[in-house]
Amino acid sequence: MGMFDLTGKRALVTGSTQGIGLAAAKALAAHGAEVWVHGSRSEEKARRAMEESGAQHFVIADFSKPDAAEKLFQATGPMDIVISNVSVQIRADWQNITPEDYEFQMNVNFRTNLALMQKYIPPMQEKHWGRFVAVGSVQQYKPHVQMAVYAASKCAIQSLVENVAKQVAKDGVNVNTFLPGVIRTPRNEGALADKEYEAKVLAAIPAGYAAEAEDCAGPLLLLCSEQGRYIVGTSITADGGMHL
Ligand SMILES: NC(=O)c1ccc[n+]([C@@H]2O[C@H](COP(=O)([O-])OP(=O)(O)OC[C@H]3O[C@@H](n4cnc5c(N)ncnc54)[C@H](OP(=O)(O)O)[C@@H]3O)[C@@H](O)[C@H]2O)c1
Repeated sequence: MGMFDLTGKRALVTGSTQGIGLAAAKALAAHGAEVWVHGSRSEEKARRAMEESGAQHFVIADFSKPDAAEKLFQATGPMDIVISNVSVQIRADWQNITPEDYEFQMNVNFRTNLALMQKYIPPMQEKHWGRFVAVGSVQQYKPHVQMAVYAASKCAIQSLVENVAKQVAKDGVNVNTFLPGVIRTPRNEGALADKEYEAKVLAAIPAGYAAEAEDCAGPLLLLCSEQGRYIVGTSITADGGMHL
């Protein structure tokens, strides 16, 4: 078996209609996995992402709904690999964060991650092989002043990952986080189009540039593969040194 060969593995990438998730789906498919692309609402968009990435399946589930993980699991069945990549972020000063915006971000970003672990990890334990990668953020180290709850939700995921990783590693299931820095995706296209804002953002990155979604594929592949078997309960950053 070659390095990073995922032949025979079933893999789900949540939030893979665009951006980092789409790049991850492409990489997993290119390395032989049977891949499920996932999106929030539009079947058309998810189907297009499936075709573009070389994935075999697509599935829809809105993570702001309490039963999203259960529905998703019913639709896909057990997986060997889950990249839990969905998040939402609402920009606001910390004094102006409404209870609704708090709940929306915590539910999509944190609660659904817990529910996905509860559904997808036990069958991995039974098979004695599994990889669950939650996508965090450089904001766990360098929080953006307008995204206090978003950053906190990512820190909560890190804690959950460490807790669960410690308990399921003995069953061959590796749980980790992947922490991107500034990656050019549809999410931040608008914000980075403001040249003044972009210059401020880039000045905080030691490498001096924002990366592309494809720059996330390699580290994710490592975390999902047999080659990553001894990586447990930790995080890999791809942020050009921004966390420093
Ligand atoms: N881009 C960055 O600079 C950066 C930096 C640090 C961390 N991250 C993290 O990396 C991950 C991906 O970021 P990205 O920039 O690639 O994101 P993105 O371009 O905004 O894409 C988000 C994906 O999540 C899905 N999604 C959004 N809301 C959802 C909901 N309520 N229910 C289900 N699915 C939903 C979207 O599906 P639809 O298109 O179907 O709505 C889409 O596929 C996120 O966890 C983000 O926090 C990104």
